[in-house]
Amino acid sequence: MSRATQAELLEHRIAENSASQEIDLATWVFERTQVRPGDAVLELCCGTGGQTLSLLNRVGDAGQVVALDISREALKTLTSKAAKSGNRLTTIEANLDGFSSSLHKISVKEESFDLIFCAYGLYYAVDARQTLQEARSWLKPQGAIVVVGPFGPNNKPLFDLLRASGVRLAEPVTFSSERFMTQIVSPWGAENFETLSVRTMVNHVRWRTPERVLNYWQNTTFYDAEKRPAFQELLNSHFVKHGEFVNEKWVMLVEMSRGR
Ligand SMILES: C[S@@+](CC[C@H](N)C(=O)[O-])C[C@H]1O[C@@H](n2cnc3c(N)ncnc32)[C@H](O)[C@@H]1O
Repeated sequence: MSRATQAELLEHRIAENSASQEIDLATWVFERTQVRPGDAVLELCCGTGGQTLSLLNRVGDAGQVVALDISREALKTLTSKAAKSGNRLTTIEANLDGFSSSLHKISVKEESFDLIFCAYGLYYAVDARQTLQEARSWLKPQGAIVVVGPFGPNNKPLFDLLRASGVRLAEPVTFSSERFMTQIVSPWGAENFETLSVRTMVNHVRWRTPERVLNYWQNTTFYDAEKRPAFQELLNSHFVKHGEFVNEKWVMLVEMSRGR
């Protein structure tokens, strides 16, 4: 869990994926998420700003983004990246679990947000359905909740090679990577909103050297230093045969609107 909140590891992972991915994730997400000038947005688990900067651009000068994360370091990085956004960005260092108290503290009123957005973070909640329920109380009646995350065969090429090297992938890792979106987010959305829009894509990440793969892995929550030599051996054989390693990021975006 502590690796999940380290901003430096997150920045390395984002760098390894963005340098080698076919589709820019933020571009894909915001071509499918309605954000209007003047909107008020609450972003949960904003991290170092992978999507926050796009949100700020889209809400424009008349809009507001409140970005929450448990990592002070991540928020510091985000604040320096968003230096030009002035007071349109408010960062909150808080836990996803029971996050409402931190909004009350800064006098935000309930039903204030046009959009509540969370990418690659909701699965860290102790009870994600409860967190979604809580999020709903901060949403305007006409507002939307958008959750983005991995699903299905996400990371399969990498997970297969790791398992072949003797790495044991913990249940929370495989659950959040493969089943969280379809077993928790979509059913909750269908129960609580009239309109559910589900978009998916497969992003191929082409790593051209073994070092790139290792650098990604060693910055993840499922790194296992003991198994590194075995993994390196299999990875080297893979490169001799194929000349590259192609990982697959399976991405799902669930947009919920028209609350029941
Ligand atoms: C995989 S990163 C995603 C960051 C960003 N949304 C992005 O897509 O680039 C997950 C983020 O969730 C944050 N996080 C993990 N557990 C949390 C919790 N319990 N409460 C709030 N934030 C948490 C981490 O600090 C990290 O910044």
